[in-house]
Amino acid sequence: MKVTLTVIKADIGAIGGHICPSQRLLEAVDNYVTEHGAKLVVDSYLSYTGDDIAIVATHTRGANDQAVHRLCWDAFIAGTEVAKSQGLYGAGQDLLKDSFSGNVRGMGPAVAELEFEERPNEPFLFFAADKTDPGAYNFPLYMAFADPMNTPGLMLSPSMAQGFRFVIMDVSDTEGDRVIELQAPEDLYSIATLLRDPERYVVESVWSRSTDEQAAAVSTSRLHNIAGKYTGKDDPVMLVRVQKDFPATGEVLAPYAIGPFVAGAMRGSHQMPLMPVPLNSGISYFDGPPVVSCAAFAMHKGKMTEPVDAFAHPFWDTVRDNVSKKAIDMRRQGFFGAAMLPMSELEYTGIVEKLETLDRRFAVRATSRPSDALRRAGS
Ligand code: F6R
Ligand code: MG
Ligand code: MG
Repeated sequence: MKVTLTVIKADIGAIGGHICPSQRLLEAVDNYVTEHGAKLVVDSYLSYTGDDIAIVATHTRGANDQAVHRLCWDAFIAGTEVAKSQGLYGAGQDLLKDSFSGNVRGMGPAVAELEFEERPNEPFLFFAADKTDPGAYNFPLYMAFADPMNTPGLMLSPSMAQGFRFVIMDVSDTEGDRVIELQAPEDLYSIATLLRDPERYVVESVWSRSTDEQAAAVSTSRLHNIAGKYTGKDDPVMLVRVQKDFPATGEVLAPYAIGPFVAGAMRGSHQMPLMPVPLNSGISYFDGPPVVSCAAFAMHKGKMTEPVDAFAHPFWDTVRDNVSKKAIDMRRQGFFGAAMLPMSELEYTGIVEKLETLDRRFAVRATSRPSDALRRAGS
């Protein structure tokens, strides 16, 4: 049976600023999908991570299906009404267009979709991150699909040993989807060269080279590319199929133990470590730290089991403690150097405007040229 997994997520309002959505908002979205999606989707699951809510839907209508995308868009509209009625902050924030046109790509909500022939047993992982951007997944995907130091399956499994294809998008291009395909392991250094710059080059998908099946799909939207101005960080979602010809669940989860520094947190303008958190967690410290959750599922004929909370296991408590320490350490240096993102990534315009004003006040001091100093020294 050919199944499509669609995840669409949006921030449509939160309690206490940007912490997490309200219970009533979640109920409104869930009820809408249940009531109006009965004929469209086989199954659905709703969760939140920070202030973002995500609808995971299974169906047989293929990727970019207008009716499924419209269902999610309309569910977010219904949620936005509740958000407004409760005075939630940023109600409807990620719904950047006034009316639905075809599919939600380019309209604000993030989308990731996988379409595949369902295996007799079909395990997959659904990741959702808040207070960061899609490049946050570059690191764990590289480790899981290209690095035998992390993924012994690349050595031990004959099919995985044939490697994986990375489709990487240049998200700075606002005209269209500018992508490159690179093969691991032959193109490893090229892949690394791009992925080291996660604000510009983002893994969009990963494919098995032995079966040509898609293993991973990442939402690559950049909200400021759509809106032309800051409207919140992009808070990416990702779907990853696991086991057999794909990395094992543990190989996909392992890189998150590092707690790598990613772009985001306060005002979307800082470097902070990524914390793996349980499902339905809010955020707190310094509007962060950036968080990522993971729901593991099994699926049969499009019906999902209950989610298993992959980062709720006690192992991750130590990781969370380490990430907290890294976050506090980084915050000790305030605005200085690596703590903040480079100019091009600052999500508010204040610094740029201030620099323009200051620039006009700079003057070249007439006597301070090196040649003057040399002359004075008699050389
Ligand atoms: C980061 C984020 C928050 C806000 C901050 C200020 O992605 O959403 O850190 O940037 O709380 O929010 P506003 O500008 O809405 O007052
Ligand atoms: Mg937000
Ligand atoms: Mg968010």
